[in-house]
Amino acid sequence: MARFVIAVTIITCALITKISCCDVVKLTFPSGFSLGTASASYQVEGAWNVSDKGENVWDYLTHNRPDLITDGRNGDVACDSYYKYQEDADLIKTLGFDFYRFSVSWSRVLPTGFANVISEDGLQYYKNLTAALVANGIEPVVTIYHWDHPQVIEEMGGWTNELIVDWFVAYAEILFEALGDSVKRWITINEPDAFCEGGYDGVSKAPAKEIPNSIGKYLCGHNVLKAHGKTFRLYDEKFRETQGGEVGIVLPLMAYLPYNSSYEAEAETAFQFTCGWMAHPIYHGDYPDIMKTRVALVSEYQGYPRSRLPEFSDEWIAIINGTNDYFGINHYTSKLVYPDSGEEQGIYTYDHGLIVTVDSSWAATASNWFYVNPSGFGYLLRKIRDEYNNPSVWVTENGYSDTGELDDYNRVSYYYEYLREMLIAIKRDGCNVEGYAVWSILDNFEWQAGYTERFGITHVEFDDADTNRTAKISQSWWAKVLSKRKLQAVPTNTAATRTLLPWQK
Ligand SMILES: *[C@@H]1O[C@H](CO)[C@@H](O)[C@H](O)[C@H]1NC(C)=O
Ligand SMILES: *[C@@H]1O[C@H](CO)[C@@H](O)[C@H](O)[C@H]1NC(C)=O
Ligand SMILES: *[C@@H]1O[C@H](CO)[C@@H](O)[C@H](O)[C@H]1NC(C)=O
Ligand SMILES: *[C@@H]1O[C@H](CO)[C@@H](O)[C@H](O)[C@H]1NC(C)=O
Ligand SMILES: *[C@@H]1O[C@H](CO)[C@@H](O)[C@H](O)[C@H]1NC(C)=O
Repeated sequence: MARFVIAVTIITCALITKISCCDVVKLTFPSGFSLGTASASYQVEGAWNVSDKGENVWDYLTHNRPDLITDGRNGDVACDSYYKYQEDADLIKTLGFDFYRFSVSWSRVLPTGFANVISEDGLQYYKNLTAALVANGIEPVVTIYHWDHPQVIEEMGGWTNELIVDWFVAYAEILFEALGDSVKRWITINEPDAFCEGGYDGVSKAPAKEIPNSIGKYLCGHNVLKAHGKTFRLYDEKFRETQGGEVGIVLPLMAYLPYNSSYEAEAETAFQFTCGWMAHPIYHGDYPDIMKTRVALVSEYQGYPRSRLPEFSDEWIAIINGTNDYFGINHYTSKLVYPDSGEEQGIYTYDHGLIVTVDSSWAATASNWFYVNPSGFGYLLRKIRDEYNNPSVWVTENGYSDTGELDDYNRVSYYYEYLREMLIAIKRDGCNVEGYAVWSILDNFEWQAGYTERFGITHVEFDDADTNRTAKISQSWWAKVLSKRKLQAVPTNTAATRTLLPWQK
């Protein structure tokens, strides 16, 4: 009897939880919620050598080290969006997106890398694109830097040279002046963790410099924080009053989950080493304590006279602390962490001291780093709510990778599950998420993966000079979601609707 009562109670509670959850979460988007789509200059523009454009680190890498790109290809043409921006804007408008997040190519605007020469054509391209969006009622959201800095600056050390801070601020100022009447949401820098690690601690991203023991990575992150902080202060001093926009940074955040319930502390360490590395200085004034302690410990173990993690002066802390009008996050996937048992024998292999893995039940995608775990998204949003005093959050990228099929049911299912998690985090848990961007409107040049991994809701035919665009199933699903402002059922895959591309047959 007692057992029966307990069972009934459990079932009733489960029902109540379920009902109250679904009652609150109707899977509609809150009023005023902004839905957009995103891209990046090097991934879509092409036109790498038109007019007076300068060479950037991705031009240089793909032309000189094609062996580092899976298919050996490059962004010389990509989606040809330099010429097709009107077509892009029309598509974004037709589908019903509220905003378009694009990035500016530094060496297109400043061919010498510096502010002494401003390319008229380069700047005009971004004015044209912005005007095309505004004319279509689409809000332009601009990323000032999405990984493609001028090669000449890399020849002087790129993000490991502190002088890049002022060069970056001078570049940002030109964009605020030229585009700031129309652009009200700025992203200073996209995903520092990704290019600082891939570019200065490995060879997966430009400039592909493998500097040992994360010395280059930490220095890069340090200069990114200074460049971000100074750019925010510049906006405060010269533009905020007249332009009234918002400035933030975008971080690439995976959800780091404990391998099992014994490892909550390890998950916290992983969070601080990834999100906290950039966000703690911006929201709390300095690197997280656990990072400072652990990097100092492992540096000493390796024989360095001082920690490989640089320190901020009080002046820099004052500049960087409190410089996010909103928190931009790119989210795709989750990881599991547990402690590195080598440390019990006194062997320190990783600064964070963790082994990072995935759950074998999570579905794989076309990208080797990317497994599907929707609940990680909600976990991450609640973590950000708690860690940074529930800031305004803009999800500036979320999406799924496959190999280019038009019948991309897995992508639709991914969007449904991840958006559901986000809506629950907003409505049930009070997370202050105000915008969300689909990555991506088009298939594009996927960095070290070349054209082998596709994230678009629109297929692009890269093997043909016309770079024609073709709708995928996910594109029509998104059009419905956007018109109803509500999640739509995932269509079922039937043989009748299967469309094979020539190279899939
Ligand atoms: C631009 O680069 C392409 C290769 O992507 C090349 O065929 C073309 O000649 C170059 N144009 C100029 C003006 O250098
Ligand atoms: C900008 O638009 C004008 C007017 O349509 C056009 O003549 C010009 O070629 C465009 N420039 C760029 C760089 O897109
Ligand atoms: C977590 O996993 C470790 C290693 O497999 C194991 O020793 C520990 O007992 C597990 N803890 C729990 C709570 O399952
Ligand atoms: C950073 O700014 C916050 C909010 O203004 C303040 O409470 C905190 O003390 C600052 N941190 C440092 C290290 O200055
Ligand atoms: C690309 O689209 C254009 C315009 O619709 C068409 O003329 C052309 O044949 C298409 N190219 C391919 C390879 O399908």
